[in-house]
Amino acid sequence: MIIGGSASQKLAAQIARKMGELLCPIETRKFPDGERYIRIKGEIEDEIIVVQSTGYPQDENLMELFLILKTLQSMNVKDIKVVIPYFGYGRQERSFNSGEAVSASVIADLIEFSGVSEVFCINLHEDGICKLFNVPTHNLSAMSSIAEYVDSCMNNPVILAPDRGAIGFAREIADILSCDCDYLEKKRITPEVVETKTKTLNVSGREVVIVDDIISTGGTIVNAIKMLKENGAARIVVSCVHPVLVDDALLKIFAAGADEVIGTDTLKSEVSMVSVAGLVADALNR
Ligand code: R5P
Repeated sequence: MIIGGSASQKLAAQIARKMGELLCPIETRKFPDGERYIRIKGEIEDEIIVVQSTGYPQDENLMELFLILKTLQSMNVKDIKVVIPYFGYGRQERSFNSGEAVSASVIADLIEFSGVSEVFCINLHEDGICKLFNVPTHNLSAMSSIAEYVDSCMNNPVILAPDRGAIGFAREIADILSCDCDYLEKKRITPEVVETKTKTLNVSGREVVIVDDIISTGGTIVNAIKMLKENGAARIVVSCVHPVLVDDALLKIFAAGADEVIGTDTLKSEVSMVSVAGLVADALNR
């Protein structure tokens, strides 16, 4: 039986359909002062899978997840698994400066404290987050789903990683589609400002797919598009797993010259046209 939190209702329904499992109805709303209310309705089974992304508004979605998990625990559900398609608070999986909160570790502790037996995430910002859990934790990659989409509408594209951290993603897609890949080097100056090193790319007249795990402010992608334009790319498709898309990020990306922007449904957005439902259902079935 699958339960979808309010951040992931459609994805939960698609996972349930693919697995041939029932979708458990829940009521989730806010009290007038903003506090969360949840109620699990209907008959509960012994094994439950909860699907809830913890993106913006992170605190509310996390609180809702904890309320669902603890309620299931209090209802004596034997096995509770959790799917967190986008893992919020994933940036600090360690302390970079003394006194900093290791946010990802705090969240992992709270999720485990809620009695889950297994955790499934998709392209965690840092793979090390898996090790913060003491229960089996899987970091699934959505690159095959993105590759399938690219294959359906592009012809022998070049796959470009906009920074070193994304090289693995670009290689994964390039291997699946047997096409070329390249990367750029980026330096983050502030959370909003990035600098990308100038590079000659072999993309003249070619279709190019930029791939990253997260698009947040869009700064990384805008720089990559500028570089591709300078090198004569014919068509630029921007892809990501988690379309966080803060404020006018999408507008900035199109204004820079993107022909198309696609993301997955780990987060709800205008560009979430690639579904990870099959990927998650397969992992759960295994
Ligand atoms: C960085 O480590 C990530 O892979 C993304 O490149 C980053 O989160 C993108 O951020 P922004 O869209 O704000 O440049």
